[in-house]
Amino acid sequence: MKRSLSQLPRPAIAPSLLASDFAHLADEIARVEAAGADLLHLDVMDGHFVPNLTIGPVVVEKVRAVTDLLLDVHLMISEPARYIQAFAAAGADNLTFHAEVASDPRAMADRIHELGCEAGISINPDGPMERIRQAAPHIDMVLLMTIFAGFGGQKFMPEVLPLIRTVKGFLTTQRLEVDGGIYPDTAAQAAAAGADVLVSGTGVFCAPDGDYTRAIAALRRAGGKASD
Ligand code: DX5
Ligand code: ZN
Repeated sequence: MKRSLSQLPRPAIAPSLLASDFAHLADEIARVEAAGADLLHLDVMDGHFVPNLTIGPVVVEKVRAVTDLLLDVHLMISEPARYIQAFAAAGADNLTFHAEVASDPRAMADRIHELGCEAGISINPDGPMERIRQAAPHIDMVLLMTIFAGFGGQKFMPEVLPLIRTVKGFLTTQRLEVDGGIYPDTAAQAAAAGADVLVSGTGVFCAPDGDYTRAIAALRRAGGKASD
């Protein structure tokens, strides 16, 4: 089955597995899938581009085996070119690399497309925005960090809102994803500014009473209302 970002609803809700219980990953995935998740966000960190370490292709491959949801792989790594083939082979649908470490984003996007995946480009709040603008015609999604990449559970940075509007202004059909500190209130703000894929880790997996359905519905409602 071919999954594409273009098939996602607006807004689309992307639970970030970083906040899930990794000891029960298949159960967590089944639960967010049943709760209405539109895609899964997987955070790859190398201890170099960001100080934290997380998962690699072996985990993506195991996740692929237990779900049909679109796998949205966020590469917070210094050398994405070295690893994109392994992540594509593991079953990723979308590979997002960071603009900060891609001097030729178009070449990276082309390579990702050759591997049969869609391509996203991401940027931290203080990153090289011009690179995003130049890359836009060649990518399928822009991922604007609404925190500094590296850890879950951080506070949404409202100063990114004008950047969301700016990026929205030069996109055509590409998706605009936000990531970091997304709860219903910040989802509404981000969606009003133009975001249409909402990543939420803590906001879903640490929901009160463990009610993932309610958490995802609240994000969808907040994100939808704002973009009406
Ligand atoms: C952090 C990651 C995020 C993280 C978001 O660098 O890119 O995807 O899981 O976590 P929350 O939703 O808890 O801010
Ligand atoms: Zn992420």
